[in-house]
Amino acid sequence: MSPFRLTRTLPEDAAGAALRADVLAGLTGSPKTLPPKWFYDARGSELFEEITALPEYYPTRAEREILLARSGEIAAVSGARTLVELGSGSSEKTRHLIAALDGLHTYVPVDVSESALTGAGRALAAERPGLEEVHALVADFTAELPLPDTPGPRLVAFLGGTIGNLLPAERAAFLASVRALLAPGDALLLGTDLVKDVRTLVRAYDDAAGVTAAFNKNVLHVVDRELGADFDPDAFDHVALWDAEQEWIEMRLRSRIAQSVKIPALEMVVDFAEGEELRTEVSAKFRREGVRAELSAAGLELSRWWTDGEGRFALSLSVAR
Ligand code: AVJ
Repeated sequence: MSPFRLTRTLPEDAAGAALRADVLAGLTGSPKTLPPKWFYDARGSELFEEITALPEYYPTRAEREILLARSGEIAAVSGARTLVELGSGSSEKTRHLIAALDGLHTYVPVDVSESALTGAGRALAAERPGLEEVHALVADFTAELPLPDTPGPRLVAFLGGTIGNLLPAERAAFLASVRALLAPGDALLLGTDLVKDVRTLVRAYDDAAGVTAAFNKNVLHVVDRELGADFDPDAFDHVALWDAEQEWIEMRLRSRIAQSVKIPALEMVVDFAEGEELRTEVSAKFRREGVRAELSAAGLELSRWWTDGEGRFALSLSVAR
């Protein structure tokens, strides 16, 4: 059994302070917004797991199909001795890749959820005795990442299409900070959902069983619990729409009535007009040339591009210049 270590790079109350700052900025702006990272408390993470099994939500299955088919190739091309996974969650989809990386020395799962990290990290350390070390990092990967000193070549994996939840300027900053973790020749494995027909896209974010609606409204439960707010999630409707110009899905919560919501921790009251919408998530969809250009601007050269059989989702491997 390989050793398991966990490092917290976030101060104890970093999450609380960040939530207060995000809610203050997002609910005083126009239009109102909340960042999608606050969906993922224990209940939100459970709902997301349910989403990944919905018939309408294809990205998880499409990405798994590619990972199963291409892990050997990814291992051969990268020759990675260190695998860093950003937003690793349960590490479920990475197991196969880890198994394929023969020379792997250290696995560094990075996530904001300490409970997900300890569960997955310990299981992996036990499962893969060849691995020298599993060194989990509790960190916000959109902020600065102090990586442990581990042997190269490095492979950074950012899967699930989560890069689509960042706005274009945030993506550029994020890719530049990923590039800064790499030496020339090191690689990035990136999952991106692709542009496709609008009906398929919208249904993936507005499923018949209403799981995505519950996931969307969960952010209001989080603000209620953490900041003492009195949002009534049932006073909002789930909205999913395709923005054809930006090529992204937006999730919103639409106020069914005119209402005032108290947020005691911020000593503020937020007014909603009837029908007013609060944006809770952007999920950008990509094309190969766009991904190539964004990687290139960050000093990363697109070297492989794989899609699932139906061309719905892509995994790309790019190499640091
Ligand atoms: C896995 C975070 C990328 O944007 O598709 C699923 C989250 N939101 N259904 C996505 C999500 C609504 C998801 N990410």
